[in-house]
Amino acid sequence: DMAEKGGYPDFMLKEICEQPRVVRDTLVGRLAPTGELDIDELGLSFEELNLIDRVYVIACGTSYHAGLIAKNLIEGWARIPCEVEAASEFRYRNPIITPTTLVVAVSQSGETADTLAAIRDARIKGGKVFGITNVVGSPVARESDGVIYTKANKEIAVASTKSFIGQIVSLSLLSLLLAQAKGKLKTGQVKMLFHELGDTAAQIQHILDTQGPAIHEAALACKDAASALFVGRGMGTAISYEGALKLKEVSYLHAEAYAAGEMKHGPIALIDPGFPVIAVATKSPTYDKVVSNLKECEARGATIIALATEGDEDIAKIAGHIISIPPVRDCFSAITASVPLQLLAREVALMRGCNVDQPRNLAKSVTVE
Ligand code: G6P
Repeated sequence: DMAEKGGYPDFMLKEICEQPRVVRDTLVGRLAPTGELDIDELGLSFEELNLIDRVYVIACGTSYHAGLIAKNLIEGWARIPCEVEAASEFRYRNPIITPTTLVVAVSQSGETADTLAAIRDARIKGGKVFGITNVVGSPVARESDGVIYTKANKEIAVASTKSFIGQIVSLSLLSLLLAQAKGKLKTGQVKMLFHELGDTAAQIQHILDTQGPAIHEAALACKDAASALFVGRGMGTAISYEGALKLKEVSYLHAEAYAAGEMKHGPIALIDPGFPVIAVATKSPTYDKVVSNLKECEARGATIIALATEGDEDIAKIAGHIISIPPVRDCFSAITASVPLQLLAREVALMRGCNVDQPRNLAKSVTVE
């Protein structure tokens, strides 16, 4: 058992620590010297991609959160309207699908019943389907026009970690490809972004090497709470959703994620002294806004745990706990900032005596509705 875990105490930690490799493997061989992105299993021509005028990302659980991150990239780079929807919802409404609609199905296992049903429906309605999956030859891979494999290798812990990072990297590639096909990014820009995407491998490693003690302290500050709130803005909102899900899954501590700007419309009523607020407060276009939202929480006595960009001195004035993240372009911030939130969830779970690899009531893949 110990050998299978590669010397780690649990699969969750082993898989979290594999993430720099997942980033590198998912990208290897993907950029031709000419600057063209090379997706072997693309299955759709550049002409077909150029015609795409609407994207739906459909997925469940953690994969759905990868979709929320991708929406920012697809709209930001390729300028194509993109909606993200839980597969269990998508399959039971009547979404607008035409031959120029791209449905992107994200599924680690490639066999989630709701996700499969949704792509079958999309195909019947004439849409193009693209799969992002970790399992070669899985139903999602077989039933999609094209596919990107996430190269995470087998994931054993029930709560997804390394697959999520593989999904974000793959969705970043797909977004760059759409932008290239649409003529929205120049070859030089694509090359630069591709290299920065690759740089996140070393940044994750740096977080793993240096942030353990800070994460441990932060976990002590939340472990006895009845509830926790994760907040951010923009990319930080999507990151918060996954942070809250991870904490709920493995530690059974109730957590909720909120767009920080929406706090004043409800959740701020929850804040009383010691209430943990975990904030994605890295340098981003909305950094100042996040800080002012956090000041409102601090004024009400919240215990603030901030993910902050290395060297940010100001945040220390309001946050009781700081977890540092290397500087990174906003579009790639989810790849780095998600890692300490995985570690935080794991630490809190261990402190609460939970089995981090096999949380109660959850299954690794859900092949029935
Ligand atoms: C289950 C797992 C989650 C996963 C979700 C979607 O609920 O416990 O970790 O995110 O299914 O799975 P998929 O294989 O489609 O990504």
